[in-house]
Amino acid sequence: MFPPQIYAERRQRLQQTLGGGLVLMLGNGIASYNYPDNNYPFRQDSTFLYFFGLDYEGLAAIIDIDNDQTIVFGDELTLDDIIWSGVQPTLVERCAAVGVSETRPLATLSRHIELALEKRQPIHFVPPYRGHTILWLEQLLGTKVSTTPGDAFLKGMPVATPSLELCYNIADMRNHKSPEELEQLAEAVDITVTMHETAIRLVQPGMHEKDIAAAVGEVCQRLGYFFSFPTICTNHGETLHNHGYIHSLREGDMLLLDAGAENAMHYAGDCTTTMPVGREFTDRQKAVYRVLIDTYEKAAAQLRPGITYRECHVAAWANIAAGLKELGIMKGDPMEAAEAGAVAMFMPHGLGHMMGLDVHDMENYGEVHVGYPRGAHKDPRFGFASLRLGRMLEPGFVFTVEPGIYFIPDLIDQWKAAGRFADFICYDELQHWRDFGGMRNEEDYLITSDGARRVGRKKPYTLDELAALRR
Ligand code: GLY
Ligand code: MN
Ligand code: MN
Repeated sequence: MFPPQIYAERRQRLQQTLGGGLVLMLGNGIASYNYPDNNYPFRQDSTFLYFFGLDYEGLAAIIDIDNDQTIVFGDELTLDDIIWSGVQPTLVERCAAVGVSETRPLATLSRHIELALEKRQPIHFVPPYRGHTILWLEQLLGTKVSTTPGDAFLKGMPVATPSLELCYNIADMRNHKSPEELEQLAEAVDITVTMHETAIRLVQPGMHEKDIAAAVGEVCQRLGYFFSFPTICTNHGETLHNHGYIHSLREGDMLLLDAGAENAMHYAGDCTTTMPVGREFTDRQKAVYRVLIDTYEKAAAQLRPGITYRECHVAAWANIAAGLKELGIMKGDPMEAAEAGAVAMFMPHGLGHMMGLDVHDMENYGEVHVGYPRGAHKDPRFGFASLRLGRMLEPGFVFTVEPGIYFIPDLIDQWKAAGRFADFICYDELQHWRDFGGMRNEEDYLITSDGARRVGRKKPYTLDELAALRR
């Protein structure tokens, strides 16, 4: 946990940015797996963690701006809790550690909100993403709750929408990482890099995807940490969210590992490595890998305050187009191909996303409210629509740089049949690459006052670095 004044200052700042009303923050509960007492590991809500730091279930909090009052609602431990879970600090002690002096029983929250609504106080809350939280909000507010942000809720409105103003104001704070947050992020990334080095050293023909996934998980779990998202570990990297671990690994395969740790404070790391399963990549794989790494390094070198991430994304697409043109797979002007959206065939996702307490930071607020300027909309075209971060980069932003090159047979077939972007894509040549698979390289960056730097230590990715670890 950070010192109490950090949390107090964050709450104070939030209070100053909102004109008035009452901010309601609900902590996460324990989620059942297959029957009530068999649970998923507990994960606190990140908004709650950011403002209250309390990493326990069964809590809610209000920041009443009109009355300058902050209260945490929760229950003290019963003897039964102590028998099953051991002696714990009291709620009052836990709250004192995060600078909160006022606590009340959880059962009184409902009446507190009722009174606030009767006084016509607008209620601000961020978009819920768990069924239980939606039901809890509906019970507290006495109406249906939507997950799309809009106006703060006032009694009498037919539907309670999360507060857009609250989302934007919190995103402004959480998008700019403080020095103590950067230390946490660096730690999470360092562990993440160790996970990747472990996989690079270990993988060889005859193993299975699940062998590598387990070894990567062990690195994280031996430190008592968790994953920031479910590990992707596959020789079919062209399937972007491949969580099966069902394949055996053979000579000539590439293994794509996208894995990250979440440290004790719940800050995330997110890296991707593509590595040869055998001693080295085939010549064909090397040719595409060189395009990928060139794209990655140019994208990282471009990062600075004032450039938009959309520009970086389009420049990365153009670089991929230029590289694939040399391989005879694309044609025409690379920048025109990028601007038209044709390169989405080979990289249908965005160049990166904000990262912090969530690996896709604050994605529950709506990525457009975090990664784009206030009031902006995302470009709805295929490929552009998956760009989670498009805004101008500012000092303190932490985000991923993760270009990829994929050959997705079903997408190739569909675009070819439709004649899509036939001016830019050499479909005859592409037929010879349908079974190539996919690759991606991903590391995490911070925008500084005059440029950018990697968060945490460098992950091995050059052909030489990979070869050195394979010896
Ligand atoms: N690990 C998910 C992502 O790279 O966005
Ligand atoms: Mn990733
Ligand atoms: Mn990522």
